[in-house]
Amino acid sequence: MGLYGDHVLPHLVDKLCGLKAAEPHRRRVCAGLSGDVVEIGFGSGLNVPFYPPAVTQVAAVEPADLGWKLAAKRVSESSVPVRRAGLDGQALPFPDDSFDAALSTWTMCTIPDVTAALREVRRVLKPGGTLHFVEHGLAPDEGVRRWQHRLEPVQKRVAGGCHLTRPIADLITGAGFTISELDIFYEDGSPKVFGADSLGVALGAPGVS
Ligand SMILES: C[S@@+](CC[C@H](N)C(=O)[O-])C[C@H]1O[C@@H](n2cnc3c(N)ncnc32)[C@H](O)[C@@H]1O
Repeated sequence: MGLYGDHVLPHLVDKLCGLKAAEPHRRRVCAGLSGDVVEIGFGSGLNVPFYPPAVTQVAAVEPADLGWKLAAKRVSESSVPVRRAGLDGQALPFPDDSFDAALSTWTMCTIPDVTAALREVRRVLKPGGTLHFVEHGLAPDEGVRRWQHRLEPVQKRVAGGCHLTRPIADLITGAGFTISELDIFYEDGSPKVFGADSLGVALGAPGVS
């Protein structure tokens, strides 16, 4: 990715995504996770303290080496075993039906082919497995959306390919999931263009392509 993407951006993500204001959302999205979990876009492991004890192990998928290094303390202090198991959510190195649950937090904005990644997540989930997500994306209000479209080109350049206008729920259902819980809200303390969040749980329907 180059100097900025490899050596600067993971620190920025660690600081910005590590704000206290995000913690209630992390706690909420991790609630109900159990068994073997795959987390795509693991970053610096900011969800690790929120994994419930019912989680047996986590396979972390993260391309940034520095992100994984910044996660070291959280990983070593975790009672849940966490291993770096993959580099790219778009091509997961796991057999079909491997995991009980998947986790994605503020990652679907950045993965270049997010539909490919969601299809991969569905493939590696066991029947009945769930995807827990909290993601920022296209705002519910037209006025905010206009600004998101204006700012998106700059955001993509400074924030490692982060999109502001991805329609999160549509992308998830378009990849063959059924959403069973969904809360759409603006994050407190964040400008609406960056903080239009969708938090929920989706069930992978087998056999849908
Ligand atoms: C905004 S950060 C969020 C990090 C973390 N999920 C969190 O909540 O703090 C987006 C993350 O997606 C990762 N990412 C980018 N492309 C990816 C890909 N193709 N597969 C998996 N993760 C990717 C980035 O390296 C980064 O760590």
